[in-house]
Amino acid sequence: MAKQFSVNDILQFDQRYRATFINSLGGFKSLVLIGTINKKKQSNLAVFNSFFHLGASPPLFGFIIRPDSAERHTLDNILSVKEFTVNHVNESFYKQAHQTSARYPQDISEFDATSLTAEYKTNFAAPFVAESNIKIGARFERRVDIIENGTILIIASIISVSLPDDCILEDGYINLEKAGTITCSGLDSYHKTTRIARLSYAKPNLPLAETDEVFERADNTNNQIKQKNKEQ
Ligand SMILES: Cc1cc2nc3c(=O)[nH]c(=O)nc-3n(C[C@H](O)[C@H](O)[C@H](O)COP(=O)(O)O)c2cc1C
Repeated sequence: MAKQFSVNDILQFDQRYRATFINSLGGFKSLVLIGTINKKKQSNLAVFNSFFHLGASPPLFGFIIRPDSAERHTLDNILSVKEFTVNHVNESFYKQAHQTSARYPQDISEFDATSLTAEYKTNFAAPFVAESNIKIGARFERRVDIIENGTILIIASIISVSLPDDCILEDGYINLEKAGTITCSGLDSYHKTTRIARLSYAKPNLPLAETDEVFERADNTNNQIKQKNKEQ
């Protein structure tokens, strides 16, 4: 039997129950660690599940910062330094990623508190997470204040990407599963994924085809050629 809730029912939920209910309702989320630094070279790391794709040309993404905490280190650092990193979470360090959500004082780096490794690259101020397989260097573009609930949308552009070369297929698709990227639901539930299929571009009057095999075959051939070239 399906349970039905009206908006009035939802508003009468206990506050924590409502937050957990609505947070889960948003579906499976991108799970990332955002690495920042302030002008005094104090690093910061925090987990976010609101990271989303905004557009490919130019490559843009967004994420949401909550209004509820007095100190928002990620926000402050991004607004002052304008650069930050976005690091996919892998199964091997999801507990450490979760721990970064604790409210550490500003002078304590979550890198130290969780033993995740800060990795610095030339000409880029913010720290990456060395343990992460997919890492993005990002530049702050714009802050949008969401008047309905006081949250803040950060719009940023992608300026660099680092990922294992065997996780990019022939057509540019990134095999997130192969890279070990995990997902989450709500604010405390972590999940591995299983792909069902990749499908062809949908067109009216054209049957869909499963494309996984085509790209993976092409990719394997490419890898074999690369390997041969290396051996020669
Ligand atoms: C799974 C998970 C996802 C989270 N996603 C967000 C988010 O999208 N936006 C946000 O503001 N806080 C989010 N948080 C809470 C932040 O991680 C937490 O407030 C953290 O202390 C912020 O750190 P900072 O003050 O160093 O920026 C999330 C927490 C968890 C456990």
